[in-house]
Amino acid sequence: MKIILIGLGTVGQGFLEVLQKKADILKTEQNLMPQIVAVATGSRGFLADPDGLDIPQLLESIKKGNLSHYPQKDGLDRNFADAIDLIRRVDADLVLELTPTNLQTAEPATSHIQAAIDSKKHVITANKGPIAKHYQKLMQAAKNAKVEIRFEATVMAGTPCIALGRELLAGCEIKEARGIVNGTTNYILSQMENGLDYAAALKQAQDLGYAETDPSADVEGWDAAAKVLIFLAAFFGKEIPLDSLDVTGITGISAEDIHEAKTAGERYKLIATISPKGGSVKPMRLPMDDPLAHVGGATNAISFKTDLMGETTLIGKGAGKHETGFAILADLLALHRKA
Ligand SMILES: NC(=O)c1ccc[n+]([C@@H]2O[C@H](COP(=O)([O-])OP(=O)(O)OC[C@H]3O[C@@H](n4cnc5c(N)ncnc54)[C@H](OP(=O)(O)O)[C@@H]3O)[C@@H](O)[C@H]2O)c1
Repeated sequence: MKIILIGLGTVGQGFLEVLQKKADILKTEQNLMPQIVAVATGSRGFLADPDGLDIPQLLESIKKGNLSHYPQKDGLDRNFADAIDLIRRVDADLVLELTPTNLQTAEPATSHIQAAIDSKKHVITANKGPIAKHYQKLMQAAKNAKVEIRFEATVMAGTPCIALGRELLAGCEIKEARGIVNGTTNYILSQMENGLDYAAALKQAQDLGYAETDPSADVEGWDAAAKVLIFLAAFFGKEIPLDSLDVTGITGISAEDIHEAKTAGERYKLIATISPKGGSVKPMRLPMDDPLAHVGGATNAISFKTDLMGETTLIGKGAGKHETGFAILADLLALHRKA
Protein backbone atom coordinates (compact mmCIF):
# COMPACT_ATOMS: atom_id res chain seq x y z
CA MET A 1 0.00 0.00 0.00
CA LYS A 2 1.76 3.14 -1.27
CA ILE A 3 0.47 6.27 0.44
CA ILE A 4 0.63 10.00 -0.35
CA LEU A 5 0.12 12.29 2.64
CA ILE A 6 -1.39 15.72 1.95
CA GLY A 7 -0.96 17.72 5.17
CA LEU A 8 1.50 16.90 7.93
CA GLY A 9 0.06 18.82 10.90
CA THR A 10 -1.45 17.39 14.09
CA VAL A 11 -3.40 14.61 12.35
CA GLY A 12 -0.73 13.76 9.74
CA GLN A 13 1.93 13.45 12.43
CA GLY A 14 -0.46 11.55 14.72
CA PHE A 15 -1.14 9.06 11.93
CA LEU A 16 2.60 8.56 11.28
CA GLU A 17 3.21 7.97 15.00
CA VAL A 18 0.39 5.40 15.11
CA LEU A 19 1.79 3.71 11.98
CA GLN A 20 5.24 3.57 13.53
CA LYS A 21 3.91 2.10 16.77
CA LYS A 22 1.74 -0.50 15.02
CA ALA A 23 4.12 -1.46 12.16
CA ASP A 24 4.95 -4.92 13.54
CA ILE A 25 1.36 -5.87 14.35
CA LEU A 26 0.13 -4.59 10.98
CA LYS A 27 2.70 -6.76 9.26
CA THR A 28 2.27 -9.96 11.28
CA GLU A 29 -1.48 -9.85 11.94
CA GLN A 30 -2.83 -8.00 8.90
CA ASN A 31 -0.13 -8.56 6.28
CA LEU A 32 -0.17 -4.79 5.75
CA MET A 33 3.08 -2.94 5.07
CA PRO A 34 2.13 0.66 4.29
CA GLN A 35 4.77 2.83 2.64
CA ILE A 36 4.68 6.63 2.68
CA VAL A 37 5.90 7.53 -0.82
CA ALA A 38 5.20 11.30 -0.77
CA VAL A 39 4.24 14.19 1.49
CA ALA A 40 2.88 17.65 0.67
CA THR A 41 2.45 20.58 3.07
CA GLY A 42 1.12 24.09 2.55
CA SER A 43 4.31 26.01 3.36
CA ARG A 44 6.87 23.47 4.59
CA GLY A 45 7.80 21.77 1.33
CA PHE A 46 7.26 18.51 -0.55
CA LEU A 47 8.98 15.11 -0.58
CA ALA A 48 8.60 12.06 -2.79
CA ASP A 49 10.61 8.85 -2.79
CA PRO A 50 9.40 5.82 -4.78
CA ASP A 51 11.28 3.54 -2.32
CA GLY A 52 9.34 4.98 0.62
CA LEU A 53 10.14 7.79 3.06
CA ASP A 54 11.64 7.08 6.48
CA ILE A 55 8.92 7.84 9.07
CA PRO A 56 11.19 8.80 12.03
CA GLN A 57 13.20 11.16 9.79
CA LEU A 58 9.98 12.60 8.37
CA LEU A 59 8.68 13.34 11.87
CA GLU A 60 12.01 14.75 12.98
CA SER A 61 12.29 17.08 9.98
CA ILE A 62 8.72 18.45 10.35
CA LYS A 63 9.32 18.99 14.08
CA LYS A 64 12.39 21.07 13.14
CA GLY A 65 10.05 23.31 11.09
CA ASN A 66 10.01 22.03 7.49
CA LEU A 67 10.83 19.16 5.15
CA SER A 68 14.15 20.70 4.02
CA HIS A 69 15.60 18.96 7.11
CA TYR A 70 14.85 15.53 5.59
CA PRO A 71 18.19 14.01 4.45
CA GLN A 72 18.91 14.13 0.71
CA LYS A 73 19.31 10.83 -1.17
CA ASP A 74 19.21 9.51 -4.75
CA GLY A 75 15.70 9.41 -6.17
CA LEU A 76 14.27 11.90 -3.66
CA ASP A 77 12.17 14.58 -5.36
CA ARG A 78 11.29 17.86 -3.64
CA ASN A 79 10.13 19.82 -6.68
CA PHE A 80 6.39 20.04 -7.08
CA ALA A 81 4.23 23.01 -8.03
CA ASP A 82 1.61 22.12 -5.39
CA ALA A 83 -0.20 19.17 -3.81
CA ILE A 84 -2.26 18.55 -6.97
CA ASP A 85 0.90 18.30 -9.07
CA LEU A 86 2.31 15.82 -6.52
CA ILE A 87 -0.90 13.72 -6.41
CA ARG A 88 -0.91 13.47 -10.22
CA ARG A 89 2.79 12.67 -10.67
CA VAL A 90 3.55 10.26 -7.81
CA ASP A 91 2.65 6.58 -8.24
CA ALA A 92 0.56 5.49 -5.23
CA ASP A 93 -2.53 3.50 -4.20
CA LEU A 94 -3.96 5.97 -1.73
CA VAL A 95 -4.08 9.70 -0.89
CA LEU A 96 -4.63 10.87 2.70
CA GLU A 97 -6.26 14.33 2.62
CA LEU A 98 -5.41 15.99 5.96
CA THR A 99 -5.45 19.71 5.22
CA PRO A 100 -7.44 22.27 7.30
CA THR A 101 -11.24 22.22 7.01
CA ASN A 102 -12.94 25.11 5.23
CA LEU A 103 -16.73 24.77 5.51
CA GLN A 104 -17.43 27.64 3.09
CA THR A 105 -15.33 26.57 0.09
CA ALA A 106 -14.34 22.99 1.03
CA GLU A 107 -11.00 23.84 -0.61
CA PRO A 108 -8.20 23.00 -1.21
CA ALA A 109 -9.35 19.54 -0.04
CA THR A 110 -12.03 18.98 -2.73
CA SER A 111 -9.51 19.67 -5.52
CA HIS A 112 -7.00 17.32 -3.85
CA ILE A 113 -9.62 14.55 -3.63
CA GLN A 114 -10.71 15.13 -7.23
CA ALA A 115 -7.07 14.91 -8.40
CA ALA A 116 -6.66 11.64 -6.48
CA ILE A 117 -9.81 10.18 -8.08
CA ASP A 118 -8.72 11.35 -11.55
CA SER A 119 -5.42 9.49 -11.09
CA LYS A 120 -7.26 6.37 -9.80
CA LYS A 121 -6.07 6.58 -6.20
CA HIS A 122 -8.22 5.75 -3.17
CA VAL A 123 -8.85 8.57 -0.67
CA ILE A 124 -9.05 8.70 3.12
CA THR A 125 -9.83 12.10 4.58
CA ALA A 126 -10.21 13.75 8.00
CA ASN A 127 -11.50 16.91 6.31
CA LYS A 128 -15.19 17.72 6.91
CA GLY A 129 -15.51 20.26 4.05
CA PRO A 130 -15.55 18.01 0.96
CA ILE A 131 -17.76 15.32 2.57
CA ALA A 132 -20.27 17.82 3.97
CA LYS A 133 -20.45 19.86 0.75
CA HIS A 134 -19.74 17.58 -2.23
CA TYR A 135 -20.57 14.05 -1.08
CA GLN A 136 -22.67 12.96 -4.10
CA LYS A 137 -20.35 14.43 -6.72
CA LEU A 138 -17.21 12.94 -5.15
CA MET A 139 -18.76 9.51 -4.48
CA GLN A 140 -20.04 9.29 -8.06
CA ALA A 141 -16.64 10.27 -9.45
CA ALA A 142 -14.96 7.70 -7.19
CA LYS A 143 -17.41 5.01 -8.28
CA ASN A 144 -16.73 5.77 -11.96
CA ALA A 145 -12.97 5.58 -11.31
CA LYS A 146 -13.41 2.36 -9.26
CA VAL A 147 -11.77 3.84 -6.17
CA GLU A 148 -13.09 4.44 -2.64
CA ILE A 149 -13.40 7.52 -0.42
CA ARG A 150 -13.42 6.83 3.32
CA PHE A 151 -13.96 9.48 6.00
CA GLU A 152 -14.24 7.93 9.50
CA ALA A 153 -11.96 10.66 10.93
CA THR A 154 -14.31 13.50 9.96
CA VAL A 155 -16.64 12.90 12.93
CA MET A 156 -15.76 11.77 16.49
CA ALA A 157 -12.11 11.08 15.51
CA GLY A 158 -11.41 7.36 15.99
CA THR A 159 -14.68 6.57 17.77
CA PRO A 160 -16.20 4.54 14.92
CA CYS A 161 -19.51 6.33 14.38
CA ILE A 162 -19.48 6.23 10.57
CA ALA A 163 -18.60 2.52 10.51
CA LEU A 164 -21.27 1.78 13.14
CA GLY A 165 -24.04 3.57 11.23
CA ARG A 166 -23.01 2.52 7.72
CA GLU A 167 -21.51 -0.92 8.13
CA LEU A 168 -22.22 -2.53 11.51
CA LEU A 169 -25.89 -1.50 11.65
CA ALA A 170 -26.45 -2.26 7.96
CA GLY A 171 -29.66 -4.27 7.72
CA CYS A 172 -31.31 -2.18 10.43
CA GLU A 173 -33.37 0.81 9.39
CA ILE A 174 -31.98 3.94 11.07
CA LYS A 175 -35.06 5.90 12.16
CA GLU A 176 -33.06 8.67 13.83
CA ALA A 177 -29.63 9.39 15.31
CA ARG A 178 -28.87 11.97 17.98
CA GLY A 179 -25.34 12.99 18.79
CA ILE A 180 -23.05 15.09 20.94
CA VAL A 181 -20.48 15.72 18.22
CA ASN A 182 -18.72 18.88 19.39
CA GLY A 183 -16.40 18.41 22.38
CA THR A 184 -15.83 22.12 23.00
CA THR A 185 -19.49 22.96 23.57
CA ASN A 186 -20.05 19.83 25.66
CA TYR A 187 -17.09 20.83 27.83
CA ILE A 188 -18.45 24.38 28.24
CA LEU A 189 -21.94 23.14 29.18
CA SER A 190 -20.46 20.64 31.67
CA GLN A 191 -18.35 23.37 33.30
CA MET A 192 -21.39 25.69 33.46
CA GLU A 193 -23.22 22.95 35.32
CA ASN A 194 -20.23 22.86 37.72
CA GLY A 195 -20.85 26.55 38.48
CA LEU A 196 -18.85 28.58 35.92
CA ASP A 197 -20.55 31.22 33.80
CA TYR A 198 -20.37 30.99 29.96
CA ALA A 199 -17.37 33.35 29.55
CA ALA A 200 -15.29 31.59 32.24
CA ALA A 201 -16.14 28.12 30.84
CA LEU A 202 -15.19 29.25 27.31
CA LYS A 203 -11.91 30.74 28.57
CA GLN A 204 -11.11 27.43 30.30
CA ALA A 205 -11.90 25.48 27.09
CA GLN A 206 -9.54 27.80 25.18
CA ASP A 207 -6.78 27.43 27.81
CA LEU A 208 -7.06 23.63 27.54
CA GLY A 209 -6.80 23.78 23.73
CA TYR A 210 -10.36 22.50 23.12
CA ALA A 211 -11.63 25.78 21.69
CA GLU A 212 -10.00 27.93 18.99
CA THR A 213 -9.10 31.58 19.62
CA ASP A 214 -12.13 32.31 17.40
CA PRO A 215 -14.61 29.81 18.91
CA SER A 216 -17.57 30.80 16.72
CA ALA A 217 -17.67 27.61 14.57
CA ASP A 218 -18.01 25.55 17.75
CA VAL A 219 -20.22 27.69 20.00
CA GLU A 220 -22.58 28.80 17.21
CA GLY A 221 -23.13 25.17 16.20
CA TRP A 222 -21.58 25.21 12.68
CA ASP A 223 -19.00 22.50 13.37
CA ALA A 224 -21.77 20.21 14.66
CA ALA A 225 -23.92 21.21 11.65
CA ALA A 226 -21.18 20.13 9.22
CA LYS A 227 -21.11 16.78 11.03
CA VAL A 228 -24.91 16.50 10.64
CA LEU A 229 -24.42 16.91 6.87
CA ILE A 230 -21.78 14.15 6.90
CA PHE A 231 -24.11 11.80 8.83
CA LEU A 232 -27.03 12.61 6.49
CA ALA A 233 -24.83 11.76 3.51
CA ALA A 234 -23.27 8.65 5.08
CA PHE A 235 -26.45 7.11 6.54
CA PHE A 236 -29.17 8.30 4.14
CA GLY A 237 -27.28 9.35 0.98
CA LYS A 238 -28.81 12.83 1.43
CA GLU A 239 -26.99 16.02 0.47
CA ILE A 240 -28.37 19.38 1.62
CA PRO A 241 -26.70 22.81 1.93
CA LEU A 242 -25.28 23.83 5.32
CA ASP A 243 -27.39 27.01 5.49
CA SER A 244 -30.64 25.06 5.06
CA LEU A 245 -30.12 23.25 8.41
CA ASP A 246 -31.83 24.48 11.55
CA VAL A 247 -28.79 25.45 13.69
CA THR A 248 -28.67 27.03 17.16
CA GLY A 249 -25.47 27.11 19.21
CA ILE A 250 -24.94 27.51 22.95
CA THR A 251 -24.22 31.25 23.12
CA GLY A 252 -27.76 31.97 24.34
CA ILE A 253 -27.58 29.52 27.25
CA SER A 254 -27.20 31.30 30.58
CA ALA A 255 -26.08 30.07 34.01
CA GLU A 256 -29.75 30.48 35.07
CA ASP A 257 -30.93 28.17 32.26
CA ILE A 258 -28.42 25.51 33.37
CA HIS A 259 -29.47 25.91 36.99
CA GLU A 260 -33.18 25.70 36.14
CA ALA A 261 -32.61 22.47 34.16
CA LYS A 262 -30.51 21.02 36.99
CA THR A 263 -33.24 21.78 39.53
CA ALA A 264 -35.74 19.95 37.31
CA GLY A 265 -33.38 16.90 37.16
CA GLU A 266 -32.37 17.64 33.56
CA ARG A 267 -29.18 18.60 31.73
CA TYR A 268 -28.48 20.86 28.73
CA LYS A 269 -26.64 19.27 25.80
CA LEU A 270 -25.99 20.56 22.26
CA ILE A 271 -27.77 17.84 20.29
CA ALA A 272 -27.26 17.07 16.61
CA THR A 273 -30.30 15.24 15.25
CA ILE A 274 -30.27 13.27 12.02
CA SER A 275 -33.20 11.47 10.36
CA PRO A 276 -34.25 10.59 6.81
CA LYS A 277 -36.25 13.86 6.86
CA GLY A 278 -33.21 16.09 7.59
CA GLY A 279 -31.26 17.36 10.57
CA SER A 280 -30.77 20.07 13.18
CA VAL A 281 -28.39 21.28 15.88
CA LYS A 282 -29.98 22.66 19.06
CA PRO A 283 -29.34 22.93 22.79
CA MET A 284 -31.81 20.56 24.47
CA ARG A 285 -32.75 19.67 28.03
CA LEU A 286 -32.33 15.93 28.46
CA PRO A 287 -33.82 13.83 31.26
CA MET A 288 -31.26 11.90 33.32
CA ASP A 289 -32.38 8.53 31.92
CA ASP A 290 -31.26 9.63 28.44
CA PRO A 291 -27.86 7.98 27.68
CA LEU A 292 -26.60 11.26 26.17
CA ALA A 293 -27.24 13.13 29.45
CA HIS A 294 -24.25 11.33 31.00
CA VAL A 295 -21.71 12.25 28.33
CA GLY A 296 -19.57 14.87 30.10
CA GLY A 297 -16.56 17.07 29.32
CA ALA A 298 -15.09 16.98 25.81
CA THR A 299 -16.41 13.46 25.15
CA ASN A 300 -18.62 12.77 22.10
CA ALA A 301 -21.47 10.31 21.58
CA ILE A 302 -24.05 9.15 19.08
CA SER A 303 -27.24 7.24 19.78
CA PHE A 304 -28.97 5.40 16.91
CA LYS A 305 -32.64 4.51 16.99
CA THR A 306 -33.23 1.55 14.65
CA ASP A 307 -36.10 -0.84 13.90
CA LEU A 308 -34.34 -4.04 14.97
CA MET A 309 -32.04 -2.81 17.75
CA GLY A 310 -33.95 -0.06 19.52
CA GLU A 311 -31.38 2.38 20.86
CA THR A 312 -27.63 1.76 20.35
CA THR A 313 -25.25 4.34 21.85
CA LEU A 314 -21.55 4.85 21.12
CA ILE A 315 -19.47 7.08 23.42
CA GLY A 316 -15.82 8.10 22.94
CA LYS A 317 -13.15 10.64 22.13
CA GLY A 318 -14.00 13.29 19.54
CA ALA A 319 -10.53 14.69 18.79
CA GLY A 320 -6.81 14.20 19.41
CA LYS A 321 -3.80 13.37 17.26
CA HIS A 322 -3.61 9.63 17.99
CA GLU A 323 -7.39 9.18 18.15
CA THR A 324 -7.73 10.75 14.71
CA GLY A 325 -4.62 8.88 13.51
CA PHE A 326 -6.39 5.68 14.55
CA ALA A 327 -9.49 6.63 12.49
CA ILE A 328 -7.27 6.85 9.43
CA LEU A 329 -5.65 3.51 10.27
CA ALA A 330 -9.11 1.93 10.64
CA ASP A 331 -10.06 3.19 7.15
CA LEU A 332 -6.71 1.97 5.83
CA LEU A 333 -7.38 -1.52 7.23
CA ALA A 334 -10.89 -1.50 5.74
CA LEU A 335 -9.41 -0.71 2.30
CA HIS A 336 -6.70 -3.35 2.78
CA ARG A 337 -9.29 -6.03 3.66
CA LYS A 338 -11.12 -5.32 0.39
CA ALA A 339 -7.96 -5.34 -1.76
N1 LIG B 1 -6.91 17.78 15.16
C1 LIG B 1 -7.92 16.94 15.38
O1 LIG B 1 -8.10 16.40 16.50
C2 LIG B 1 -8.86 16.59 14.26
C3 LIG B 1 -9.86 15.61 14.49
C4 LIG B 1 -10.69 15.23 13.42
C5 LIG B 1 -10.55 15.84 12.17
N2 LIG B 1 -9.59 16.82 12.00
C6 LIG B 1 -9.45 17.41 10.67
O2 LIG B 1 -8.23 16.92 10.09
C7 LIG B 1 -7.68 17.92 9.22
C8 LIG B 1 -6.24 18.21 9.65
O3 LIG B 1 -6.26 18.74 10.97
P1 LIG B 1 -4.92 19.12 11.74
O4 LIG B 1 -5.33 19.37 13.14
O5 LIG B 1 -3.86 18.13 11.41
O6 LIG B 1 -4.56 20.52 11.01
P2 LIG B 1 -3.15 21.29 11.06
O7 LIG B 1 -2.38 20.88 12.26
O8 LIG B 1 -3.47 22.71 10.82
O9 LIG B 1 -2.36 20.71 9.77
C9 LIG B 1 -2.76 20.97 8.46
C10 LIG B 1 -1.70 20.52 7.50
O10 LIG B 1 -2.16 20.76 6.16
C11 LIG B 1 -1.13 21.43 5.43
N3 LIG B 1 -1.70 22.21 4.34
C12 LIG B 1 -2.41 23.36 4.40
N4 LIG B 1 -2.74 23.76 3.14
C13 LIG B 1 -2.21 22.85 2.30
C14 LIG B 1 -2.17 22.72 0.88
N5 LIG B 1 -2.76 23.61 0.09
N6 LIG B 1 -1.52 21.66 0.35
C15 LIG B 1 -0.89 20.75 1.13
N7 LIG B 1 -0.90 20.82 2.48
C16 LIG B 1 -1.55 21.85 3.06
C17 LIG B 1 -0.46 22.28 6.48
O11 LIG B 1 0.83 22.69 6.02
P3 LIG B 1 1.48 24.09 6.57
O12 LIG B 1 1.63 23.90 8.06
O13 LIG B 1 2.76 24.18 5.86
O14 LIG B 1 0.48 25.15 6.22
C18 LIG B 1 -0.37 21.27 7.63
O15 LIG B 1 0.69 20.37 7.42
C19 LIG B 1 -8.60 19.14 9.33
O16 LIG B 1 -9.47 19.14 8.22
C20 LIG B 1 -9.35 18.94 10.64
O17 LIG B 1 -10.63 19.52 10.63
C21 LIG B 1 -8.76 17.18 13.01
